[in-house]
Amino acid sequence: MEWGMANRLAQLIQSDGKCLFMPIDHGYFQGPTRKLEEPGKTLEPIMPYADAVFVTRGVLRSAISPANSKPIILRVSGGTSMVGADLANEGITTDIEDVIRLNAMAMGLSIFVGTDYEKESLLNLSRLVNEGEKYDIPVMAVTAVGKELEKRDARYLALCCRIAAELGARIVKTYWCEGFEKVVKGCPVPVVMAGGPRTETELEVFEFVHDGMQKGAIGVNLGRNIWQNEYPVAAIRAIRAIVHDNATPKQAQEIYDTVKNE
Ligand code: 5RP
Repeated sequence: MEWGMANRLAQLIQSDGKCLFMPIDHGYFQGPTRKLEEPGKTLEPIMPYADAVFVTRGVLRSAISPANSKPIILRVSGGTSMVGADLANEGITTDIEDVIRLNAMAMGLSIFVGTDYEKESLLNLSRLVNEGEKYDIPVMAVTAVGKELEKRDARYLALCCRIAAELGARIVKTYWCEGFEKVVKGCPVPVVMAGGPRTETELEVFEFVHDGMQKGAIGVNLGRNIWQNEYPVAAIRAIRAIVHDNATPKQAQEIYDTVKNE
């Protein structure tokens, strides 16, 4: 691997081989999502506990200080909205020159396997990898399910992750699911887990993050279950302990309960 690629990946994946990415990119199709109406304010208290931030160029420029930032994974796909015809119909939104100017450590793009736009989104990924590799900028592929959350099963996610890796993604972001080991085993590049919509309890998140880490994920790219929590700092510190310190779900809950009462 070239020095530039290795250096960028090392800024994202920490020396223990693990990572906690903080996605605040949801507005690119959801608009001002709850608790992300002012992304800069939401991010400020939790950013110290994140290893990188996943964000669009618009929010990056307007809400994150260049003098006080974590490594950036730039969301470079979009062109759809919650009220539009089809969330899967995404294109590449950001030129590679802008990615370089913004000093991004990686680019992130969604793929929509099994949809009417499967081919377009997979060719978008291939195009992005072709551009990124010229400059040693890694691509994180996001295995998106749009509004069809029930798609999150091991067979489907294993298919998506493997295809993303085959097309050149250096990291794949997917969802945790029952039988998650099948997803990781079939994917030759590192896998990180998204959180999905807010769960009823924190413990549910701690349990699936812990299970996914045991089964080979290298970390998380997990947003709403942190910044929509009433105690986001407690939530991120608990999840960080699972990712980087091998904490059990019970220990994570204790960290959450302690930090929320500070
Ligand atoms: C949304 C994304 C998010 O980065 C991803 O879904 C992770 O966020 P969450 O944990 O809130 O699901 O790709 O476009």
